[in-house]
Amino acid sequence: MSETTDGPGNGATLHPHEVHDLVGGWPAFEALVDTFYAKVERDELLRPLYPEDLAPGKHKLALFLAQYWGGGDVYSRHHGHPRLRMRHAPFPITPEAAARWAELMSAAIREQGFPADVEVLLLRYVATATPQMINRYPETPDHLPVHPR
Ligand code: HEM
Repeated sequence: MSETTDGPGNGATLHPHEVHDLVGGWPAFEALVDTFYAKVERDELLRPLYPEDLAPGKHKLALFLAQYWGGGDVYSRHHGHPRLRMRHAPFPITPEAAARWAELMSAAIREQGFPADVEVLLLRYVATATPQMINRYPETPDHLPVHPR
């Protein structure tokens, strides 16, 4: 099947920049992030990574996602280039924590009732972007032998 005949449901014909308008704009991103943060707040692995006041980070995440999915550049105008890996460097993000983040965000996405092709695109984004934030590998010894023999 060619790309142009792919129908809704597989995300193949949807451009990321169309998502913002398809889901109804800013309120949809606020709702998604509300749902996600409610899960983070109850999560014993992720909650300790976040500061006591969740509100500023929550707003930034909604601004970032709205921008990423085609809603204009409000995040960048207020906060500069996203540089997400660098911004996450202060938080010890293990593979386990990243997997939990992806699990909670994926659940939050599914709860929004977005069109199927939008949902596929968002889930795919979470699956590929989240592992990029990993910056701690606790199972790796501090000093690996250079010459194991
Ligand atoms: C798709 C993957 C992710 C995206 C798009 C994302 C996005 C963001 C954004 C935009 C911010 C605000 C940055 C700023 O402007 O200061 C942020 C902050 C943060 N993120 Fe992520 N993030 C992702 C993955 C993760 C993961 C895997 C973790 C931990 C397991 C994590 C933990 C945090 C924490 C602790 C903050 C600080 C919140 C605060 O200061 O209140 N993020 N993230």
